[in-house]
Amino acid sequence: MSEDNLKGPNGEDVLSSVRHDAAVASTNRFYEDHAVEYFSWTFGAQTQFVLDRFLSHLPAKASISGRDLKFFLSRGHCALGIDASTALVQMAAQHSGAPCEVARIESISYEDRFDGIWACASLLHLPRDAFRPALRCLNRALKRGGTLFMAVQEGQGEAILPDGRLYVYYSEDDIRKSLDAAGLAVDELWTSQNSAKAVHQPVWINVIATAR
Ligand SMILES: C[S@@+](CC[C@H](N)C(=O)[O-])C[C@H]1O[C@@H](n2cnc3c(N)ncnc32)[C@H](O)[C@@H]1O
Repeated sequence: MSEDNLKGPNGEDVLSSVRHDAAVASTNRFYEDHAVEYFSWTFGAQTQFVLDRFLSHLPAKASISGRDLKFFLSRGHCALGIDASTALVQMAAQHSGAPCEVARIESISYEDRFDGIWACASLLHLPRDAFRPALRCLNRALKRGGTLFMAVQEGQGEAILPDGRLYVYYSEDDIRKSLDAAGLAVDELWTSQNSAKAVHQPVWINVIATAR
């Protein structure tokens, strides 16, 4: 079987690990090379409703790891930004005034540190076999009873977009099983679609879960 038509257990397209390495590198390169564009592109994203929903699970003065740093700071929380892209980390630090670190989710070593983790549309770039270990890292980084928000796209298999980014798709059932295996209990799970009038409308699986 050639590398181009490997199939997963449900007949989905699966990349070999060699190509996964290349896909992870090209995903990272995309964000490094398009940091300014990406920042202005997503700057006005309507995330307020979900941010408020997430914050309603947190203590009044929480410590949070995540992207929407300025918002968390404006609500009186203490926030740390983490992203794999050096360029985006620099921009996030400049824009928010919050401390920010370049790190990959799957290798963060924080333990028992955060009341909340906001992982919006980032875990979908990890190869599937790195997904559960990454959730375990996030669970370890949360205090017991801490809250994780994550959003990934619904679907099967995986794809490398023409811009080089790896997208790995999940079903609701995959997500529930993976969270459970990583020690996180689902509090809320809902699907949504972007309001932008794009032809292709991905369905997002949004989850709020608690570290056990
Ligand atoms: C689709 S963007 C989402 C950005 C932002 N969270 C938002 O909601 O607009 C994906 C982000 O995840 C980051 N990323 C991708 N893989 C990552 C990894 N393994 N660890 C940490 N960050 C990663 C990218 O650099 C990029 O900033």
